[in-house]
Amino acid sequence: MISPWEVTGEVDYSKLIHDFGMEPFSPILNEIDEPMHLMKRGVIFGHRDYWKIVDAMKKKEKFAVMSGFMPSGLPHFGHKMTMDEIVWHNRKGGVAFVGVADMEAHAVRNLSWKETYRIGMEYVKAIIALGLNENSVIYFQSANQNVKDLAFELGEEVNWNELKAIYGFNGETTLAKMFVTAVQAGDILLPQIAFYGGPKPTVVPVGADQDPHIRLTRDLAARVSVYAFERIEKGVRVRSRKGKDYLENLKTLEFEMKFFEEHVDVFGDAMEVEEAVREIEIEIGGYAFIPPSSTYHKFITGLQGGKMSSSKPESFISLLDTPDDAERKIRNALTGGRATAEEQRRLGGQPEKCVVFELYTIHLLNDRELTEIEMECREGKLLCGRCKKFAMEKVRKFLDDLHEKMDEADGRLDMYNIISRFGK
Ligand code: TRP
Ligand code: SF4
Repeated sequence: MISPWEVTGEVDYSKLIHDFGMEPFSPILNEIDEPMHLMKRGVIFGHRDYWKIVDAMKKKEKFAVMSGFMPSGLPHFGHKMTMDEIVWHNRKGGVAFVGVADMEAHAVRNLSWKETYRIGMEYVKAIIALGLNENSVIYFQSANQNVKDLAFELGEEVNWNELKAIYGFNGETTLAKMFVTAVQAGDILLPQIAFYGGPKPTVVPVGADQDPHIRLTRDLAARVSVYAFERIEKGVRVRSRKGKDYLENLKTLEFEMKFFEEHVDVFGDAMEVEEAVREIEIEIGGYAFIPPSSTYHKFITGLQGGKMSSSKPESFISLLDTPDDAERKIRNALTGGRATAEEQRRLGGQPEKCVVFELYTIHLLNDRELTEIEMECREGKLLCGRCKKFAMEKVRKFLDDLHEKMDEADGRLDMYNIISRFGK
């Protein structure tokens, strides 16, 4: 089962794509100039509307990348994956928005504002240390009036039946937990409000468990905007959600058009038409949101196999772990090795079942190193003991370097726009 607050059982990713109605990522891979390693290696397995981002990157047009972190436990290697995705898009020209979901942690996990602040700032330092640029917007939900206002308005479009159907809420669910879903939709659409320069393609990198939020937000983006689009043969059919009167405004468009009672058919390049209509909507004070795009990465395995859980510190490497802690955790990690050394030399290891190999794939190795290890493992030339030693060295180096950069980030927080209730 997969929902934003619970994931159980084995995950079949092609089935997930099919059941959730996502697009598989691989067909779009060739369109991307120097794709990120997580894309090439199939860790990012699905998306929605990512072509909008590919387009913006190609044409050097503005776009945003946005994701959020719930500060209920310390940041770990799973969060690092999302942080790396944000930073990658940031380097490709996207303006980055990083939300610290302190309202979610407060409502769902019962943490105090002080605690969520303390923990949240570790996420902030970590993502800065990983390379987030200074033009980014970093905020705690509870301190961001724009997010809360937007959440409230989006909430006007969602009723109880819908919440029940999407999130499985019931009579015990608190109002705050329900509101948190609207706040997350607010997070995702924040980059597109007038205050931040209006509509722009926005990609939200997340784990597949967050897809219900994405689907709802894509829907809400349309519901709160005035004009609705439907592609037709030689252009776009435009409807108004706020009454027929709004169709009058389209008369100023410089396209060939045909007016009907309930809609207008506008002929021309669909993207250009939609952009022109959005401009009209902005002029009359509407949101004109572009439904957000998303990418989905796989769930990471706990170090002992099974699920990674924030309540089991041995199941993950925290970004704040000492290198010694991390070393111990790797020593005890589950591998794809065989029962005996002899058997492993004969049959080879199974990297696809190996948590150490997963660490290599997601975090530690470049393409050449990865291929080499995989080959040596499969051929039985590399045994798990030596392989783990190598992983420990890599992680030690990574953590030493990260901690140094986090300290450095701490001294440089003033350079960043951080919206929080307790300062920086
Ligand atoms: N709910 C997300 C989580 O539990 C965190 C989150 C909050 C988020 N706001 C977001 C993720 C906006 C993506 C976009 O991890
Ligand atoms: Fe995993 Fe390395 Fe052992 Fe292969 S040799 S199974 S990659 S630990």
